[in-house]
Parts: sequence; structure tokens; C-alpha cells
Amino acid sequence: MQIEMVDLKGQYNKIKTEVDQAILSCISNTSFINGPAVREFQYNLEQYLGVKHVIPCANGTDSLQIAMMALGLRPGDEVICPAFTYVATGEVIGLLGLTPVMVDVDPKTFNLTANDIEKAITPNTRAIVPVHLYGQSCDMEPILKLADKHNLYVIEDNAQAIGADYTFSDGTVAKTGTIGHIGSTSFFPSKNLGCYGDGGALMTNDDDLAKKMRMIANHGQEKKYYHKVLGCNSRLDTIQAAILNVKIKHLDLYSQARNAMASFYDTAFVKVDELEIPERQFNSTHVFHQYTLKVKNPKRNELQKYLSDKGIPSMIYYPLPLYKQEAFQQFVSSDFVLPTSEDLCDQVLSLPIHTEMNSDHMNFICDSVKSFFNK
Ligand SMILES: Cc1ncc(COP(=O)(O)O)c(C=O)c1O
Repeated sequence: MQIEMVDLKGQYNKIKTEVDQAILSCISNTSFINGPAVREFQYNLEQYLGVKHVIPCANGTDSLQIAMMALGLRPGDEVICPAFTYVATGEVIGLLGLTPVMVDVDPKTFNLTANDIEKAITPNTRAIVPVHLYGQSCDMEPILKLADKHNLYVIEDNAQAIGADYTFSDGTVAKTGTIGHIGSTSFFPSKNLGCYGDGGALMTNDDDLAKKMRMIANHGQEKKYYHKVLGCNSRLDTIQAAILNVKIKHLDLYSQARNAMASFYDTAFVKVDELEIPERQFNSTHVFHQYTLKVKNPKRNELQKYLSDKGIPSMIYYPLPLYKQEAFQQFVSSDFVLPTSEDLCDQVLSLPIHTEMNSDHMNFICDSVKSFFNK
């Protein structure tokens, strides 16, 4: 039995006719750069997310960079981000000469909390980057309140949670990525809404920020060959936009399929003492970009090897907190430690979850995990 972490081929085969047609139409009308499919996708994503502006760009890392440039952050400004995240979140902060202030995460939800953020705020803090890790929203309401109190910008890194809904205490529901001043996302192929190459986008309800971000993504120009600010070249490729226009129609079904798998895993593992299943936050839906277990005893690596020997892939997202990466040593003292991030790096294991899994795959994975623990 062939089991993949992500089955892009199986997913493509189901939408092949439509995707092939969309790609061919871009090629036949040679609209390679900023073609009609890009504007169409911008509109489709604005409608889907219920946000005023979507600014497509080249990838998720660029989207974070463009967001920070548009907010006018300057060298020396501190930006708070989780230590337990993909490198891009902190990398961009350092690359712009800003100071990444890495903060611990909640051990149950893997996400930043307002409490931990507050302890890290200094007079130099300008922005917070909550990452909706693995597909579930950070608890945004207290984070927004804190940001408001200290006059800070909030940039949501929504690369892993597109489609998730966050519910405020007054019952208002908003899609992740549309809650802070700016939201950023990635369409990397394995993402829940992934294209067939690189892609990304920014989201905002603020007209001025939208204008600035559009300008920065386009070499700092509003009018061709007149450059107001230093920008970059960050475009969503037309062919990728055409693919996304097909895939966005399936996004909610994809999220449902991922949730069904997550529930199946939960049921199988809830009684295995050595495992902790992912916690669902009461005010967020989960889109399960990853299904991540915590292996409570120190057997995580052995379990991974055991599964691998049976042909079952699994991944450790992430093996090191940002501050332990060589590239981040410049931002911390040698004794800097965040205990939860360290524990999570030792304990997390993400199992295959994608839209094409069948019950044979699921049963085989669950039986294999349980047999490792002699259950
Ligand atoms: C949390 C997070 N932020 C940012 C990114 C960067 O996205 P990209 O790979 O499109 O640059 C990713 C993608 O892997 C991610 O998972």
C-alpha cells in the first residue's frame, strides 16, 4: 500500500479536465504575467474570505515581507513571533533588519497566546505575528485587545489555516487571515489551497495598506516606470492563479475531508495513554493542514522509524525552535530557552492527512501506531 503525506497526484486526477483547460487557456492567450486569471482569483479569494482586499504575490514568505514593509517597520523595531513555527515567519523579520522577539506557545494548541505575548512587549515592540499553526486559529480576540492597548500591528501568518473560522465572544465569525491589520498566506503545493508551484497572497480590510502592499509587490510603482518606494517583484503567476481558481471551489470540501480523517485518528488514539491528540479550540474551526500528535513518552523518534519501516511517512514540524537555528543565534543569548517550544520539538509527530486518503490507509496507519504501543 502506497501512503503519502500529501497526495497531490490523486487530487489532481479528480479535477484534471478543469485544471488542464485552465492552464491551456492561459497558454493559448499568452497572458503569462498578470493575466485575467490573477484578477479573477483575487476576486474569488476576496469573496471566499469576506475581506475587502486580496493582493496576490509570489509566495508566502514574500507576503510576510511585503506586509512588514507596508507597515513602515524600521531597523531596531521589535516584532513578536512564535518560536515554534516555520522559519519564514521569523526569517523575514530578521532579513528586514527588524528584531524577532521569539515567544513560547501554548502546549495544547501550539499557538501564541495574549498572555505570553504581553510579557514580551517592550517600548520597541511594533508588531505581532500570530501563526495559525497546523490549521487552527490563535485566540485572536485577546491578541487584538492587547495590540490595541499597546498600539501594535497584527500580521496573521495564515499559511496553514486558510478556510478556518474564528468566532468572537459576540458571535461574529471571521475567516483567519482577515482578522488582524494584515493577513498573509501561501499557496505552496502541499498547503490546503495549494497551486502547482509557488504562490501567496495578502489580505486586508484597510484601503491604504492594500494600496501600499500592491505598490511594494510591484517594484514600488503605481504608474509604470515611476517608482515611489523601494519594492520587490512579487507576482502570482497567471497559470498558478488559473489552477487556484479551480481549486478554491473545492476548498471547503477539502477541509471537510481533512476533518473526517482527523476525527478518525482521534477516535483511534484517544485511549492510547502515551499519545495526546490535537486539542480543538472552542472558538475556532480546524482545517487540519497537519494532524499532529504529541508522543508523551520519549519514544517519538522510535515510533517514526517503526512507521517508516511499514511504509508510513510522518513528519516532525518542527525539529528546532527558531532560536536554536544557527541563523537566529544573532537574536538571542546562548542561554535563551522557551520550555514549551523545546518540549514540542521533542514530542510532535504529524501523520499523513490529505484529501485522497481511503479507509484502508486510515486503518493501516491507526493499527500500526497502536501496535507500536502494544494496544
Ligand atoms: C507558517 C508558514 N509561514 C510562512 C510560510 C512560507 O510560505 P512559502 O513557502 O510560500 O514562502 C509557510 C510555508 O511553508 C508556513 O508554513
